[in-house]
Amino acid sequence: MAVFDWAFQPRLDRRTVEELFTLSFVERNEDLLITGKSGTGKSHILQALAIKGCGQEWMVRYARCVDLVDDLYAGLADGSYERRMKKWCRPPLLVVDDVGLGQLKRREGEPTAAHMLFTLLDRRHGNATTALSSNIKLSAWGSYLGDATLAAAVLDRLAATSIRIDIDGPSYRQFLARKRAEEHGQQPPAEQEAVEA
Ligand SMILES: Nc1ncnc2c1ncn2[C@@H]1O[C@H](COP(=O)(O)OP(=O)(O)O)[C@@H](O)[C@H]1O
Ligand SMILES: [Mg+2]
Repeated sequence: MAVFDWAFQPRLDRRTVEELFTLSFVERNEDLLITGKSGTGKSHILQALAIKGCGQEWMVRYARCVDLVDDLYAGLADGSYERRMKKWCRPPLLVVDDVGLGQLKRREGEPTAAHMLFTLLDRRHGNATTALSSNIKLSAWGSYLGDATLAAAVLDRLAATSIRIDIDGPSYRQFLARKRAEEHGQQPPAEQEAVEA
């Protein structure tokens, strides 16, 4: 993985992360869930894994959770839902970044994001790898995704075989912002907490 400062994130187990880059978990169709506050390197790791997967000439798809759900809602509107769902189900490696970040659509009489994610994970489970990141506590997935029971079922699927990594440490984004402010002789920006749903 390019230029990851391991010393900045001392509680993150380097060996566990480096083992991911052998991509053997993808060959075993295991899922991956990375949690941690904003700026801790979740997307950095997932994007590097996606690029590594492309290097194997695998079909890889990467989307933020809100964009994936938006795509499926567009499918409900124009009758292409099932075709779009199949497309999300196909790649051997699918990255769903930022579960918990951004407002999800919710329309009366239409399936919730929880329903969509459950369908997707259930169909992919054991056949392909889904790698997700989240900046909110797993206990907050129900209210974020709009259905506590289905969100619990999503997490159940993930718990069955997934590799769990929690990045419990400082924000690199904040560190960069402070550094930049110092270089320009400005006040560093105030610390921001992760958005909790
Ligand atoms: N340990 C690290 N070493 C080097 N760069 C990092 C590290 N952690 C994060 N970054 C960089 O900081 C920025 C924010 O990281 P990102 O992965 O987007 O955070 P998250 O997805 O957890 O909110 C990105 O530019 C990323 O490349
Ligand atoms: Mg991110």
